[in-house]
Parts: sequence; C-alpha cells; structure tokens
Amino acid sequence: MIRKCLFPAAGYGTRFLPATKATPKEMLPILTKPLIQYGVEEALSAGINTMAIVSGRGKRAIEDHFDISYELEHQIKGGSKERLLTEIRSLITQCTFSYTRQVEMKGLGHAILTGETLIGNEAFAVILADDLCHDENKSVLEQMTEIYEKYQCSVVAIEEVPIDETYKYGVIAGKLVDGTDDTYRVTDMVEKPEPKDAPSNLAIIGRYILTPDIFDILRETKPGKGGEVQITDALMEQAKKGKVIAFKFKGKRFDCGSVDGFVEATNWFYNKMQ
Ligand code: G1P
Repeated sequence: MIRKCLFPAAGYGTRFLPATKATPKEMLPILTKPLIQYGVEEALSAGINTMAIVSGRGKRAIEDHFDISYELEHQIKGGSKERLLTEIRSLITQCTFSYTRQVEMKGLGHAILTGETLIGNEAFAVILADDLCHDENKSVLEQMTEIYEKYQCSVVAIEEVPIDETYKYGVIAGKLVDGTDDTYRVTDMVEKPEPKDAPSNLAIIGRYILTPDIFDILRETKPGKGGEVQITDALMEQAKKGKVIAFKFKGKRFDCGSVDGFVEATNWFYNKMQ
C-alpha cells in the first residue's frame, strides 16, 4: 500500500514571473484553489494521507495554506463565507503534512532524494503539482496505485504528445504488457530528447510511484540533461532490470507550468462548474 506522497515544490517558477516573485508557483490558483491543493486532493483520493513536501526559500505560504488561520476563521465564523473553507479544513483534518527544504536547486532527481528523510524505506508516490490531472471516475494517482499493486515496481504516468514536443518531457520506449493496451514495460527512457532522438512520443507526466531503492540509485546518479540530476536517468537503472512500468492513464492533464496550459485549465474548470 502506498501511504506517502512527495511533492517537489522548491522550483522558482520563472515562467510565471513576476507572479512568482514572492508567491510559490504551487500556490497559483485554478479558480479558487491553489495548484498544490488539487495535488493533495488527488493523493487523498488514492488513499494516501501523508504529504511530504520538498520546499525551499520563499515557500512559506504552502505551509500556511495547510494549517488553520485562527484570525481568519474567527472573522468569518457563522457568516456566508465560512463554507469556502470547508474543503481545505477537511483536507487538514484528514492529512499530515511534513516539510523539508531543498537548499540548492540541482534538478528533480535531487529534489526527490532530498525528500528521502520524509519518506524512509517504502514505496511512495510523487506529484508534480503543475501537471494538473483530472478524471471523473478515478484519479490518475488512484489508477497508478492499482498498477503498482499489480506489478510491485516503479510506475510512471505517460501520455502521447506531438512528436515535436518531446523536448519538454522524459520520453520512454517500452513493450506493451501482454493483454493490455495501456501498460508498458519500459526498455528505454530519455530526458527531453529532440524529436529525432526520441524513442517514441510517449511522454512522462508528473505522476510517479517509486520504489525506495530509487534513493540509492539517485545518490549515484550524475547530473544529466541541463546539468541537473534527472529522475529519468535514475529510473532507467531500474528499467534495465525490468522494474519500471509506464501507464497510459485515463483522464485529462493540463500543463499548468505554462501560461497556455494554465489558462486552458482555468477555462476548463470554470466551464465544468457552470
Ligand atoms: C520533469 C521531468 C520530465 C517529465 C516532466 C513532467 O520535467 O524531468 O521527465 O516529463 O517533469 O511534467 P520539468 O517539467 O520539471 O522540466
């Protein structure tokens, strides 16, 4: 069973400057809810209630968001606005939040390794909050925990992307597992390849389930693409032993790390609310 979810949340969010100058990018809202809250809700829907957040300088707002604000609660108590806090209050009661800081930005792999102290020796989920996922029936992380329970190895979420966009993602090659049309045993992975070097158009999106041996592998992983320690390179070590499954999830994904994706998500959730 997966009990913990890691949220790498130390990045600068430079694509959203100046909005992210003093506000963590994970706190940018889609309608009235910050991105990271969607992620926490998704983890909870998969039965996970321990949230492990790798934060950094200037990210205090995340901690305050997942805590009681006595002054505010007192002000709105009994009024019509009180209901606006119902969802977040319920999350706070159902989950525990722990934090550690990534002191230097050395890549996603390094951020995940920084989270080891909060995870320990057990398999865990990872959510990149700027990939906002939605499915009416079953959340993407819930779909993935079911895959993990079946295969008992690391799992990455994938989706098909236009071949000229492979440079934005980790890209996999794999063999379909017998009898499925959405589950691959990974044979190759490349971080942000140019289209001509991409092993396929199956891109990793920001949902992972990782077995804890990933930490030892990450400790040995040399900086890769962009001079950063890449989780894709560490996962490739597991894939060499047949220990990574890529799963084509059901549902929608919005790249809220880009302005276009952010606006698309905002419009989609707004229309859904009408
Ligand atoms: C990271 C990973 C990449 C993955 C992507 C998903 O890249 O390094 O492999 O495809 O997340 O969003 P980033 O978007 O942080 O540059």
